[in-house]
Amino acid sequence: MKIGIIIGSTRPGRKGEQVAQWARELAGQRSDASYELVDLAEFDLHLLNDPTIPAAAKGQYADEATRRWGATIDALDGFVFVTPEYNHGVPGALKNAFDVISPEWANKAVGFVSYGADGGVRAVEQWRGIVINAHLYAVRGQVAIYLFEEFDGEGRFTPKERRAGEFASLLDQLVPLAGALEPLR
Ligand SMILES: Cc1cc2nc3c(=O)[nH]c(=O)nc-3n(C[C@H](O)[C@H](O)[C@H](O)COP(=O)(O)O)c2cc1C
Repeated sequence: MKIGIIIGSTRPGRKGEQVAQWARELAGQRSDASYELVDLAEFDLHLLNDPTIPAAAKGQYADEATRRWGATIDALDGFVFVTPEYNHGVPGALKNAFDVISPEWANKAVGFVSYGADGGVRAVEQWRGIVINAHLYAVRGQVAIYLFEEFDGEGRFTPKERRAGEFASLLDQLVPLAGALEPLR
């Protein structure tokens, strides 16, 4: 199984990069799947600009950046969305990245690592409703990082001790689900 850990913020100075790197480091100690970081910022995606809706495009996208993004997602079996919460909801850049492609997400598994003043849990509750529309199945396991407790004044990330166990539990659910869905892909 190949799992992509997606950095869901493209903002200069984003905190999400440290969170994703922490997750990637822990995941790299496991032998149940291969794990790679997927940095949304590297794709320079445009706002949805394809005249054909992605669910009907059969993976043939007009925009080169979308094609590159689609090929990256297509090659993966499951995902960890490392997601901030913006205005009590999902971040626009990651939502757009989710929207611009469609079949590449189908019959795969996703888990959420969120962060925010209240752990980013409102964004994750929205994500759970969103991902199912692309036949992407979410595990229950979740890591919710509290911005004001787990980042210091200089913006350095020090996760609470229990986060590693929570993330392990998320991956313990994610990898078997991604495997169980394989016959449907
Ligand atoms: C546009 C915007 C809206 C935000 N809204 C929320 C919010 O609703 N809830 C929250 O907990 N934090 C909110 N924040 C603060 C973010 O949690 C914080 O800036 C975090 O570092 C964002 O993740 P990033 O640095 O990886 O982009 C918001 C930040 C931005 C930029």
